[in-house]
Amino acid sequence: MASDGRIAIIGLGYVGLPLAIAFAEAGIQVEGIDVSEGRVRELNARHSPIDDISDERLTAALAGNLSVVDSADGHPGEADAAFVCVPTPITPTKDPDLGPVVGAAEYLAAHLRKGQLIVLQSTTFPGTTTGPFREVLERGGLRAGTDFDLAFAPERVNPGDPGSSGRSIPRLVGGTTPAATSRAAALLRHVNDRVVELSSPDAAELAKLLENVFRNINIALVNNLALLCERMGLDVWEVIDAAATKPFGFMRFTPGPGVGGHCIPVDPYYLSWRARQFDFIDRFIELAGDINLAMPRHVVDLVAEGLNDRGRAMKGAKIGVLGVAFKPNVQDARNSPASSVISGLAGRGADVAIHDPHIPSFRDDDGRTYASRELDDLLGWADAIVVVTAHRAIDWAAVFGRADLVIDTVDSSTGQDIRPGQVLRLGAGWIGRKPLAAGNPA
Ligand SMILES: NC(=O)c1ccc[n+]([C@@H]2O[C@H](COP(=O)([O-])OP(=O)(O)OC[C@H]3O[C@@H](n4cnc5c(N)ncnc54)[C@H](O)[C@@H]3O)[C@@H](O)[C@H]2O)c1
Repeated sequence: MASDGRIAIIGLGYVGLPLAIAFAEAGIQVEGIDVSEGRVRELNARHSPIDDISDERLTAALAGNLSVVDSADGHPGEADAAFVCVPTPITPTKDPDLGPVVGAAEYLAAHLRKGQLIVLQSTTFPGTTTGPFREVLERGGLRAGTDFDLAFAPERVNPGDPGSSGRSIPRLVGGTTPAATSRAAALLRHVNDRVVELSSPDAAELAKLLENVFRNINIALVNNLALLCERMGLDVWEVIDAAATKPFGFMRFTPGPGVGGHCIPVDPYYLSWRARQFDFIDRFIELAGDINLAMPRHVVDLVAEGLNDRGRAMKGAKIGVLGVAFKPNVQDARNSPASSVISGLAGRGADVAIHDPHIPSFRDDDGRTYASRELDDLLGWADAIVVVTAHRAIDWAAVFGRADLVIDTVDSSTGQDIRPGQVLRLGAGWIGRKPLAAGNPA
């Protein structure tokens, strides 16, 4: 087995940067390569753009085994192994966009040499590693399995959750040959205590998609239940907490204003697209996507309902949106449902302002830009507050102490001192008021 002492990491984002630092800390020489000159400049200025990597940790890695360069200055041909951690977005019609993966493969192909190990780590549909990725790598004449090793090893990091990127989180790997699998696994064992070897790249690709489809479908399930609870006059949060006391066979998911980030609103479509090539319509994925995509519109309807209750129209109302990141305590706003919520509010004539302690400026679906205002200022200005993302850093006592009307989409009001009729909760209705009669079963 080759000793893989020099590694190239292609793509230094949420996935590639932590991996590069982990390998560097494990004593392996790492060249981090990114196509973005801005990203490379930022990293070499010792500034980490990622919540879970401190500037100090980055600085120490750069003083040790890590170097960071842009693609023009990279030397991927000198590495024993390369990991590809580039984005896998979807098109506006929700088809896979393999542009960055193919771009990274073309880059590596131009430098590929015998004996190298190439590991794709970007989340993608089964058949990518052995299909388009391999085809591009082999353009120069070298063959996977004989001239170089090829594997897929998905990533499980969960931004904002430092425990999710530690060495105790098991990793999956599947190579195009048993030798490629065990070589990639041996390398990953420098940074992970448990590496599970699978029979093929396709199995590893599908296992990663199963993890994210599972989340998306379960979030859709509770979002749907939230809509039913509003009609039944029940509190979905109480119901979920009650079900979660079951110590087996149940996993707690919570409703909200929609799904966001790079993974959950994106990855499932990689599988439904691929399934269609097998004459298989994955209705589970399409239905879950449909339910989750409709949640921002429902939030806009709740705001209209809250204002209506006070004899106010949406048109001309001043609405403060709290939290625009796609989840709490991160500075990542990619695909955040806040974007559709804000567009929906503005589209109905509301005057919208935002506060997010982690995000200085935010664009909605229609390209309007909002600068984060001071909380104090926002609370003094707004007719209604919509809580989209409940960051720990927001002063919740001030929010519920001062706001006249709060539309709470993420249960930020529990434990707060609130007044009857002040808070309209997604999945539960008005707190402190009797729900409308639900009607008796016939
Ligand atoms: N963010 C997550 O939580 C997470 C978790 C698990 C898996 N993933 C998957 O990992 C992959 C990477 O996601 P991410 O969140 O790190 O993306 P990111 O956008 O944070 O980072 C990707 C980086 O790759 C660079 N890049 C793009 N094309 C390139 C190319 N051809 N050559 C070199 N660099 C290139 C970009 O400039 C960027 O810095 C995606 O497939 C994603 O689905 C992400």
